[in-house]
Amino acid sequence: MLRRLHPEQPDSFEFTPANKAWAEGQIRKYPEGRQASAVIPLLWRAQEQEGWVTRPAIEYVADMLGMAHIRVLEVASFYFMFQLQPVGSVAHIQVCGTTSCMICGAEALIAVCKEVIAPNPHELSADGRFSWEEVECLGACTNAPMIQVGKDFYEDLTPDSFREILEGLERGEVPVPGPQNGRFAAEPLGGPTTLEEFANGDHAQNASVARALEYGDTIKRIDGTEVPILTGAALKRAANEKAAKKVEAEKPAKKAAKKAAKSVDKPEGPKKGADKPVAPKSDGPTPELLDAPRGGGADDLKKITGIGPKLEEELNKAGIWHYDQIAQWSDEEVAWADENLVRFKGRVTRDDWRAQARALVKAD
Ligand code: FES
Repeated sequence: MLRRLHPEQPDSFEFTPANKAWAEGQIRKYPEGRQASAVIPLLWRAQEQEGWVTRPAIEYVADMLGMAHIRVLEVASFYFMFQLQPVGSVAHIQVCGTTSCMICGAEALIAVCKEVIAPNPHELSADGRFSWEEVECLGACTNAPMIQVGKDFYEDLTPDSFREILEGLERGEVPVPGPQNGRFAAEPLGGPTTLEEFANGDHAQNASVARALEYGDTIKRIDGTEVPILTGAALKRAANEKAAKKVEAEKPAKKAAKKAAKSVDKPEGPKKGADKPVAPKSDGPTPELLDAPRGGGADDLKKITGIGPKLEEELNKAGIWHYDQIAQWSDEEVAWADENLVRFKGRVTRDDWRAQARALVKAD
């Protein structure tokens, strides 16, 4: 099958603000110089927003990633999951036609598509609301025959249950995805034969169906207001902001306690294992390293994305205890830290510890 750009294209494409923020989060997952790795998720998001992958969307994604337009076109035209022509405005039905599904009745489902939607794959229905195509195995062979609509699978179908799903979509409903014959997941048709006491637990649906129902975006285009899908980093940032607010609220009491402690006690000794700062292993400017935390209290470096308990311990051993130490690093000192402080070189730059530390200093 030839896969090329559709002859009719819109004038422009732009991510909605929420999708743009999401896309930027995806790009940040990759090290400097490797942003092109985000090309598939960004094209997928563009397709979710528009329904299909347009030429302006391909160029927009390429510009976002600093890639040549032709490179992104190559990706979009290679993977069949990207639709290069308009699809139904309500739903595009993908019917699996590979062996298991074919044996279990995929051809009957395709006959329903031809009758109810349009005679040919990739042809819009008369009202422009539906389209269909036959696809290769979607990995749900145990529940054959099956279809995919948006992100969701509808499995264990018969022509009648498939028609009901189409009618539900037509009415604007989101039919419950998953097995359509009463099966919970992929257990034997007669019910589970092992681990029976754990079957289903208290759950009405299996986890993937429950998630699909929670999102409810099977037939909805993502317009930036529906499903706040956040990257792990964004979730951590949100947690950091919450923690920073808490710190802000506790600040006056903490300040008073610190002042009182300073006037009475000497600073406590360093944490266990923090005898001396480690000597730098390479030449170049070395950041400020401390024998012990100032005022007897170290900052919680784990609030910085990319630093876990183990790495925090190593940083403390090296003489880094406070956000402000990291916040004031020069570019050369960041490079030194990348080279000497972390097992995965480049992590300090990739996660932008300095900017995160500055934000924490500000919040403090
Ligand atoms: S053969 Fe249809 S999902 Fe695998």
